[in-house]
Amino acid sequence: MMISVIGVGYLGAVHAAAMAEIGHDVIGLDVDAERVAVLQAGRAPFHEPGFEDILRRGLAAGRLRFTTDYADLAQADVHFLGLGTPQRKDGYGADLSHLEAATESLRDVLPAREGAPTLVVGKSTVPAGTARRLADRVEQVEGVQLLWNPEFLREGFAVKDTLEPDRLVYGVRDPETLPAVAAVRRLDAVYAPILARDTPRLVMGYETAELVKASANAFLATKISFINAIAEMCEAVGGDVTDVARAIGMDDRIGAKFLRAGVGFGGGCLPKDIRAFIASAEEHGVGESLGFLREVDTINERRRARTVELSGEMLGILRGRRITVLGAAFKPDSDDVRDSPALDVADRLLQAGAQVTVTDPQALANASQRVPGLVVEADLATALRGAELTLLLTEWREYRDLDPVWAAGLVAVPRMLDGRSVLEPRSWAEAGWELRALGRSAPTPGPAPTAAPAPPDTARTLPALI
Ligand code: UGA
Repeated sequence: MMISVIGVGYLGAVHAAAMAEIGHDVIGLDVDAERVAVLQAGRAPFHEPGFEDILRRGLAAGRLRFTTDYADLAQADVHFLGLGTPQRKDGYGADLSHLEAATESLRDVLPAREGAPTLVVGKSTVPAGTARRLADRVEQVEGVQLLWNPEFLREGFAVKDTLEPDRLVYGVRDPETLPAVAAVRRLDAVYAPILARDTPRLVMGYETAELVKASANAFLATKISFINAIAEMCEAVGGDVTDVARAIGMDDRIGAKFLRAGVGFGGGCLPKDIRAFIASAEEHGVGESLGFLREVDTINERRRARTVELSGEMLGILRGRRITVLGAAFKPDSDDVRDSPALDVADRLLQAGAQVTVTDPQALANASQRVPGLVVEADLATALRGAELTLLLTEWREYRDLDPVWAAGLVAVPRMLDGRSVLEPRSWAEAGWELRALGRSAPTPGPAPTAAPAPPDTARTLPALI
């Protein structure tokens, strides 16, 4: 089929290349001519494992190309909308201006057709009610139908998540009607190789589909803030949040994923999506229903403030002190620094007068652009040299696997704040480090456990006796 993808940012670029990968003829459009040129040259404008491979394969096979001209899209059978919906500058709501403008531009070039419908398929994350409003506009063209098909991909796994999703969700105007059946069949044809893997496909109304996406991200954010709230309790009473998370995560009903406590969530999705969800609930007169998401946001914000406060406690005073921050990206395997907790903390330390050096395997160019004046250093050893405090804020593998003895030889003072609770406290203490971790009480240095036979474990033997 001939497919267009409008908006080739993170989501759209991956979607376009993935659709070419499964055999379609794809044209990606963006108003950003530079981005179009970069993609057309086979280069990834962001760090995403595996993306450049499928991009180049699609281009080489002649199945993928990029344009800035809407007229080039007119002949496509299916048009995906992959535009960004960032937070509005004047409030919590989502800024839908790019999506709305793109839909209008598309509508202007869509030819009236008979027979199989021309599909317009929204993938962006939007407040409930958006799809119906856009459908009312675009379906004025004869033979056009709009579906809402939210995207659940994670950065760092974007290619896999697109080609092997957990589920496909189709939002239609009225699931019981014939036009909806025809539209569903057409979108099924687009995703045929994915559906052939027994991927569940759920058809529902527009608003429900929009709510599925908003709810999924709100739930994930809530899970993270929940464990971070428990981390605060652990700090207060002397517990260890990583053990709490491990133990509660073994209950299938709770699940172990997204229970990693630390400096909190960031990125281009979770923070702005929970705020847009709050705004949408308020607009519909049910603000109290999602009022808890404000608390989720506040807990998340508090973790960043606590990291800065703890840095101050560890150093006595921040002004003039040499601090190295490991990580700038909002999560590992990404160069995305949008609302990155790591970069935000680095910036706050800088504002407090500390001499901050930030290192990151991929995100330094984006970090410098976002925080002018930030000292960045690509080489890990150089970044560590002379530090009086080191903060681990993005858990890249190279930081999780850092050798505490090697690192101790570089820093001025072996003092570490583990903002992702990923370092093994004992080995760091043994290498002479003062280690503090969010949600973990300070380790008591001492000899490593010996292989001597363990004393009888009452907790384990008691149930057997009963
Ligand atoms: C998120 C969702 O996970 C995707 O399903 C969704 O499609 C996407 O948003 C979107 O709406 O486009 P993403 O932003 O790539 O994906 O990142 P996540 O993997 O969800 O991580 C978000 C943040 O939470 C990161 O800063 C990460 O470090 C943090 N996090 C994650 C934790 O602090 N603890 C955890 O246990 C997990």
